[in-house]
Amino acid sequence: MIELFDLTGEIILITGGTGVIGSSFAKAVLHAGAEVILWSRGKSTSPEEVIKNLEEKTGKQGKIFSFKVDTSDREAVETGFREIVDTIGIPTVLINGVGGNRGKSSFIDTDLDLFEEILKLNLFGGLVIPTQVIAKYWIEHKIEGSIINLASSASYVPLSGVWAYDAAKAAVMNLTAATAKEFAPYKIRVNAIAPGFFAGIQNRSLLYENYGKKTLTERGKAIINHTPFKRFGNPEELHGTVVFLASRKASGFITGVTISVDGGYLVDNI
Ligand SMILES: NC(=O)c1ccc[n+]([C@@H]2O[C@H](COP(=O)([O-])OP(=O)(O)OC[C@H]3O[C@@H](n4cnc5c(N)ncnc54)[C@H](O)[C@@H]3O)[C@@H](O)[C@H]2O)c1
Repeated sequence: MIELFDLTGEIILITGGTGVIGSSFAKAVLHAGAEVILWSRGKSTSPEEVIKNLEEKTGKQGKIFSFKVDTSDREAVETGFREIVDTIGIPTVLINGVGGNRGKSSFIDTDLDLFEEILKLNLFGGLVIPTQVIAKYWIEHKIEGSIINLASSASYVPLSGVWAYDAAKAAVMNLTAATAKEFAPYKIRVNAIAPGFFAGIQNRSLLYENYGKKTLTERGKAIINHTPFKRFGNPEELHGTVVFLASRKASGFITGVTISVDGGYLVDNI
């Protein structure tokens, strides 16, 4: 059984890798034996701090690398990917962890520039550009890689007031299925994880009035009421799913699926 989830020899590239979910994924796959490369814009979290923290928590010194790469910039992604291949090795798993939301509004009042920014963040930077660049390399070099996208509960049921985020995450689930079919002849798998609600950097102010004191916003309270487990998730509760999907021994015949990890949010009813 341990062999099934052993990621020794895999090099796993995590975009948005210094974020809450990305860095938690890094911890999981490091424990499973993989080497990890974190890509981020280095804006909200310091990559050095994330690496130090991961090294302390996993004891995996020298297995974590970090680069500043804006994934919404195709040229930067191409250059960044070449740099990894030349200096570290060929990534065999791509985790598309870039994404997020900003604010909420009525549909009519939605600012179009912000709408476009969120679509681009979650779709272009969060999936399309890294997938195009890396899958192209894998196909040309016959690498049987695996892609893990970040969908959301909003991929299934829209959340109120976050129109562009809903649309983008629905598209992430759709593109996960579509690219899985497209890349199957090359033995490249594409799956997604749809987290319920986890306090990330990008959604903290939507969930908490005061994060330190853990005082919830009305929206945070509504989400918990609507989650049968009556709490937000802990990022460590995503570990099993990410290791499972990254491991070809455990999930080598699985492609095109999105797995929800949401404390029952999607099955809530009256
Ligand atoms: N937290 C949740 O409850 C939740 C739920 C469902 C889905 N998700 C999805 O999971 C993913 C990670 O979310 P999170 O909560 O950990 O967010 P986060 O804000 O903690 O992390 C996102 C990271 O991406 C980086 N980033 C943003 N734009 C980038 C770009 N263009 N290039 C490189 N790096 C960039 C940020 O600097 C940050 O480090 C997102 O796609 C999000 O939509 C999160």
